[in-house]
Amino acid sequence: MESKGSNEPSAVGVRQRRIVYFVLIGLFLLQSGLTYTVSTEVPVPAAELNSAARRGEALYRSFNCTACHQFYGLGGYMGPDLTNVTIAPGKGPDFTRGIILHGSANMPALGVTKDQADDLVAFLEAVAATGIYPIRNLDLTPWGTYREMHSDAR
Ligand code: HEC
Repeated sequence: MESKGSNEPSAVGVRQRRIVYFVLIGLFLLQSGLTYTVSTEVPVPAAELNSAARRGEALYRSFNCTACHQFYGLGGYMGPDLTNVTIAPGKGPDFTRGIILHGSANMPALGVTKDQADDLVAFLEAVAATGIYPIRNLDLTPWGTYREMHSDAR
Protein backbone atom coordinates (compact mmCIF):
# COMPACT_ATOMS: atom_id res chain seq x y z
CA MET A 1 0.00 0.00 0.00
CA GLU A 2 1.35 3.32 -1.01
CA SER A 3 1.88 5.95 1.55
CA LYS A 4 -0.24 9.06 1.43
CA GLY A 5 1.13 11.73 -0.91
CA SER A 6 3.55 9.46 -2.78
CA ASN A 7 2.62 11.20 -6.09
CA GLU A 8 3.59 14.55 -4.71
CA PRO A 9 7.06 15.53 -5.87
CA SER A 10 9.59 15.53 -3.09
CA ALA A 11 11.50 18.66 -2.26
CA VAL A 12 14.58 17.20 -3.97
CA GLY A 13 12.55 16.44 -7.16
CA VAL A 14 11.25 20.00 -7.30
CA ARG A 15 14.73 21.37 -6.98
CA GLN A 16 16.08 19.06 -9.72
CA ARG A 17 13.24 20.03 -12.01
CA ARG A 18 13.93 23.70 -11.39
CA ILE A 19 17.59 23.16 -12.29
CA VAL A 20 16.61 21.41 -15.52
CA TYR A 21 14.21 24.24 -16.44
CA PHE A 22 16.86 26.79 -15.57
CA VAL A 23 19.46 25.05 -17.77
CA LEU A 24 17.01 24.66 -20.68
CA ILE A 25 15.94 28.31 -20.50
CA GLY A 26 19.60 29.32 -20.31
CA LEU A 27 20.46 27.23 -23.39
CA PHE A 28 17.46 28.68 -25.23
CA LEU A 29 18.59 32.23 -24.49
CA LEU A 30 22.16 31.40 -25.49
CA GLN A 31 21.02 29.81 -28.75
CA SER A 32 18.76 32.77 -29.53
CA GLY A 33 21.56 35.19 -28.79
CA LEU A 34 23.96 33.34 -31.08
CA THR A 35 21.34 33.03 -33.83
CA TYR A 36 20.78 36.78 -33.97
CA THR A 37 24.42 37.78 -33.63
CA VAL A 38 27.05 35.29 -34.85
CA SER A 39 25.18 33.79 -37.80
CA THR A 40 23.89 37.12 -39.07
CA GLU A 41 27.32 38.71 -39.39
CA VAL A 42 27.86 39.98 -42.94
CA PRO A 43 30.80 38.14 -44.51
CA VAL A 44 33.69 40.24 -45.75
CA PRO A 45 33.34 40.44 -49.54
CA ALA A 46 36.10 38.63 -51.43
CA ALA A 47 36.76 41.51 -53.75
CA GLU A 48 36.03 45.09 -52.73
CA LEU A 49 35.32 47.46 -55.58
CA ASN A 50 37.39 50.63 -55.37
CA SER A 51 35.79 53.84 -56.62
CA ALA A 52 37.11 53.44 -60.20
CA ALA A 53 35.76 49.89 -60.33
CA ARG A 54 32.42 51.07 -59.00
CA ARG A 55 32.16 53.71 -61.72
CA GLY A 56 33.20 51.02 -64.20
CA GLU A 57 30.41 48.77 -62.97
CA ALA A 58 27.85 51.54 -63.61
CA LEU A 59 29.34 52.15 -67.07
CA TYR A 60 29.24 48.44 -67.82
CA ARG A 61 25.52 48.66 -67.18
CA SER A 62 24.85 51.89 -69.03
CA PHE A 63 26.77 50.78 -72.14
CA ASN A 64 24.92 47.49 -71.84
CA CYS A 65 28.09 45.44 -72.33
CA THR A 66 26.19 42.49 -70.93
CA ALA A 67 23.98 42.42 -74.03
CA CYS A 68 26.95 40.85 -75.86
CA HIS A 69 29.30 39.65 -73.08
CA GLN A 70 29.17 37.21 -70.19
CA PHE A 71 30.59 36.94 -66.69
CA TYR A 72 30.91 33.33 -65.54
CA GLY A 73 29.05 32.28 -68.67
CA LEU A 74 25.99 34.48 -68.04
CA GLY A 75 25.06 37.28 -70.42
CA GLY A 76 24.68 37.85 -74.14
CA TYR A 77 26.55 35.63 -76.59
CA MET A 78 27.69 37.87 -79.43
CA GLY A 79 31.06 38.57 -77.76
CA PRO A 80 33.33 36.46 -75.54
CA ASP A 81 33.19 35.94 -71.77
CA LEU A 82 34.98 38.79 -69.97
CA THR A 83 35.44 37.26 -66.49
CA ASN A 84 39.22 36.90 -66.87
CA VAL A 85 40.02 39.03 -69.92
CA THR A 86 42.34 41.33 -67.91
CA ILE A 87 44.50 38.38 -66.74
CA ALA A 88 44.24 36.06 -69.76
CA PRO A 89 47.52 35.18 -71.50
CA GLY A 90 48.08 37.38 -74.55
CA LYS A 91 45.39 39.84 -73.37
CA GLY A 92 45.44 41.88 -70.16
CA PRO A 93 44.51 45.45 -69.16
CA ASP A 94 46.06 47.30 -72.13
CA PHE A 95 44.50 44.96 -74.68
CA THR A 96 41.17 45.31 -72.84
CA ARG A 97 41.38 49.11 -72.80
CA GLY A 98 42.25 49.15 -76.52
CA ILE A 99 39.25 47.07 -77.56
CA ILE A 100 36.90 49.06 -75.33
CA LEU A 101 38.12 52.34 -76.84
CA HIS A 102 38.33 51.34 -80.48
CA GLY A 103 36.17 48.26 -80.93
CA SER A 104 37.37 45.57 -83.30
CA ALA A 105 36.35 43.82 -86.47
CA ASN A 106 33.39 42.37 -84.59
CA MET A 107 32.84 44.69 -81.63
CA PRO A 108 31.38 48.13 -82.28
CA ALA A 109 33.24 51.22 -81.03
CA LEU A 110 30.75 52.47 -78.47
CA GLY A 111 32.12 55.98 -78.01
CA VAL A 112 33.69 55.21 -74.63
CA THR A 113 36.01 58.01 -73.41
CA LYS A 114 39.53 57.33 -72.08
CA ASP A 115 38.50 57.92 -68.46
CA GLN A 116 35.50 55.65 -68.90
CA ALA A 117 37.73 52.98 -70.45
CA ASP A 118 40.04 53.16 -67.41
CA ASP A 119 37.08 52.70 -65.09
CA LEU A 120 35.74 49.79 -67.14
CA VAL A 121 39.17 48.12 -67.01
CA ALA A 122 39.28 48.66 -63.22
CA PHE A 123 35.89 46.97 -62.99
CA LEU A 124 36.95 44.06 -65.20
CA GLU A 125 40.09 43.65 -63.07
CA ALA A 126 37.93 43.47 -59.95
CA VAL A 127 35.74 40.85 -61.65
CA ALA A 128 38.83 38.82 -62.62
CA ALA A 129 39.88 38.86 -58.95
CA THR A 130 36.68 37.04 -57.95
CA GLY A 131 37.64 33.75 -59.64
CA ILE A 132 38.83 31.83 -62.66
CA TYR A 133 36.43 31.00 -65.49
CA PRO A 134 36.16 28.88 -67.51
CA ILE A 135 37.92 25.96 -65.89
CA ARG A 136 38.77 23.37 -68.51
CA ASN A 137 40.73 20.13 -68.58
CA LEU A 138 39.61 18.96 -65.16
CA ASP A 139 41.58 15.86 -64.25
CA LEU A 140 38.68 14.15 -62.51
CA THR A 141 38.78 10.97 -60.44
CA PRO A 142 35.87 8.51 -60.82
CA TRP A 143 34.54 9.65 -57.43
CA GLY A 144 34.18 13.26 -58.53
CA THR A 145 37.18 14.97 -56.96
CA TYR A 146 39.99 16.23 -59.12
CA ARG A 147 43.67 15.35 -59.21
CA GLU A 148 44.76 18.52 -60.92
CA MET A 149 43.07 21.62 -62.30
CA HIS A 150 44.39 23.56 -65.27
CA SER A 151 43.00 26.95 -66.11
CA ASP A 152 43.03 28.95 -69.32
CA ALA A 153 43.54 32.24 -67.58
CA ARG A 154 47.05 31.91 -66.19
C1 HEC B 1 27.07 44.68 -79.83
C2 HEC B 1 27.75 43.71 -79.04
C3 HEC B 1 28.83 44.19 -78.10
C4 HEC B 1 28.75 45.15 -77.13
C5 HEC B 1 27.54 45.99 -76.73
C6 HEC B 1 30.01 45.16 -76.47
N1 HEC B 1 30.86 44.26 -77.04
FE1 HEC B 1 32.76 43.84 -76.47
N2 HEC B 1 32.93 42.50 -77.97
C7 HEC B 1 31.93 42.16 -78.86
C8 HEC B 1 32.44 41.18 -79.79
C9 HEC B 1 31.66 40.53 -80.89
C10 HEC B 1 33.79 40.94 -79.41
C11 HEC B 1 34.78 40.02 -80.11
C12 HEC B 1 35.62 40.94 -80.95
C13 HEC B 1 36.64 40.24 -81.81
O1 HEC B 1 36.99 39.10 -81.50
O2 HEC B 1 37.10 40.89 -82.76
C14 HEC B 1 34.05 41.78 -78.27
C15 HEC B 1 35.27 41.82 -77.62
C16 HEC B 1 35.49 42.51 -76.44
C17 HEC B 1 36.70 42.42 -75.65
C18 HEC B 1 37.89 41.50 -75.95
C19 HEC B 1 37.57 40.14 -75.36
C20 HEC B 1 38.56 39.06 -75.67
O3 HEC B 1 38.63 38.12 -74.86
O4 HEC B 1 39.24 39.13 -76.70
C21 HEC B 1 36.54 43.21 -74.56
C22 HEC B 1 37.51 43.44 -73.42
C23 HEC B 1 35.21 43.82 -74.68
N3 HEC B 1 34.62 43.36 -75.84
C24 HEC B 1 34.68 44.69 -73.76
C25 HEC B 1 33.44 45.29 -73.89
C26 HEC B 1 32.92 46.25 -72.95
C27 HEC B 1 33.60 46.68 -71.66
C28 HEC B 1 31.70 46.63 -73.41
C29 HEC B 1 30.79 47.68 -72.86
C30 HEC B 1 31.39 49.01 -72.71
C31 HEC B 1 31.46 45.89 -74.66
N4 HEC B 1 32.54 45.09 -74.90
C32 HEC B 1 30.32 45.99 -75.40
C33 HEC B 1 30.65 42.66 -78.87
C34 HEC B 1 30.17 43.64 -78.05
